[in-house]
Amino acid sequence: MPRTAGRIHRDGLTSTATVLVEALEAAQTDKETADTLTHPFHTYPARLHPATAKILVEFVGEDAKRNQAILDPFCGSGTVLVEARANGLRAIGTDLNPLATLVARAKTWTVPPKKRNQLRSVGHAIAGAALAAGKAARRSGTDTAPLRRVAGFDPNARNRRLAAWFAPHVRRELEDLAARLDELATEDAELASILTACLSAILYKVSSRTSDTDPTWTDRNVARGQATRLFGQRVELLVAGLDDLAKVHAPLPEVHELDIRKLSTVVPDGTVAGVVTSPPYAGTYDYAEHQRLRFDFLGLRHRDLDAGELGSRRSFEADPHEANRRWKKALAGSIEKIAATLVPGGAAAIVIGDSVAKGRAMFALDDVREALPGDLVIEAWASQERPMLGTVERRAFGDRPKAEHIVLLRRA
Ligand SMILES: C[S@@+](CC[C@H](N)C(=O)[O-])C[C@H]1O[C@@H](n2cnc3c(N)ncnc32)[C@H](O)[C@@H]1O
Repeated sequence: MPRTAGRIHRDGLTSTATVLVEALEAAQTDKETADTLTHPFHTYPARLHPATAKILVEFVGEDAKRNQAILDPFCGSGTVLVEARANGLRAIGTDLNPLATLVARAKTWTVPPKKRNQLRSVGHAIAGAALAAGKAARRSGTDTAPLRRVAGFDPNARNRRLAAWFAPHVRRELEDLAARLDELATEDAELASILTACLSAILYKVSSRTSDTDPTWTDRNVARGQATRLFGQRVELLVAGLDDLAKVHAPLPEVHELDIRKLSTVVPDGTVAGVVTSPPYAGTYDYAEHQRLRFDFLGLRHRDLDAGELGSRRSFEADPHEANRRWKKALAGSIEKIAATLVPGGAAAIVIGDSVAKGRAMFALDDVREALPGDLVIEAWASQERPMLGTVERRAFGDRPKAEHIVLLRRA
């Protein structure tokens, strides 16, 4: 969610619209929340601002009964789940992106203290052993990475795809850490997966990929041992955040890798007290591409995401007309699925932004209005104007402002 302040417009029930305005403003005024709990653990494209999530979760979760959950069906890196857990609420998150669910699970892993201490001790033991192996490799002059075999990936093809992105000594260190995690997975797959999220969190920082959303090559000078030390620090950051998150009593959040079209297979109808979610912005991101390097390195299977990602940029590049038709259908389908999960009177806060897809302005509030099923009404909305980025956006939007919206839907 962009952090720039812009004019805010609002409509609907005054008390609700006031909360939505506060949630939008919090992204600029709240300088603390984003640094608390496990929020700083891992980057993620179009992450919801934690301060916005906090206000929306408090609002939709206000009347939640003990067994009723807060749901985010596009949970991404788990911002909403962290805030729900911090509020003592039951939380369920689903997302089609295997990297998202890996990270969201790690950020909400509020297991008993003994297990969290084990996360710290095993993480540090692995980092220590990898550092020692790195020194030995340096002394013997063997800085090349062994060809690690990752289930479901051709080792030579994987090797070729990764070769350009890491300096040889960095790649050797990372493969060593990953091999130790593979070994741990044979005894404790859950712990290994949380530590894999720690490795994922530092991967792009020691690669030559500029960022998640910018795939261009950049020259990064990474010292020997730095990748391993960063991994150890990331373990520490995660454990400290989880310790804070676990101070409030609540069940361990559930996280599922799932297409929203199959939501009813894990969330029974009429069981959710409130939804806070941010669907993809039409034609803006390519989650499958943004995480390609991580998928290759960590061995995450992504065929379902490649095929089922909603509103991806690549779908608009390929056939804008067909992509637009599919986007509208998918958004309507998603809102219908969300509505079905809600208890009567339950609320869904949808955070969504206007975008430009293949040169055409996409007005998200209009799209949500068109997509509403009969059992949902708009109780209020608030929209904050965002700056136009370049001439393509200015041409596409013309006189209408570009904005980010929060729409509060209420089930009858
Ligand atoms: C705007 S992001 C959500 C970010 C999240 N709120 C956070 O704070 O990290 C939208 C998410 O929708 C997911 N997504 C795209 N298509 C999907 C589908 N068909 N089913 C479920 N999730 C999907 C993407 O993987 C992405 O994580």
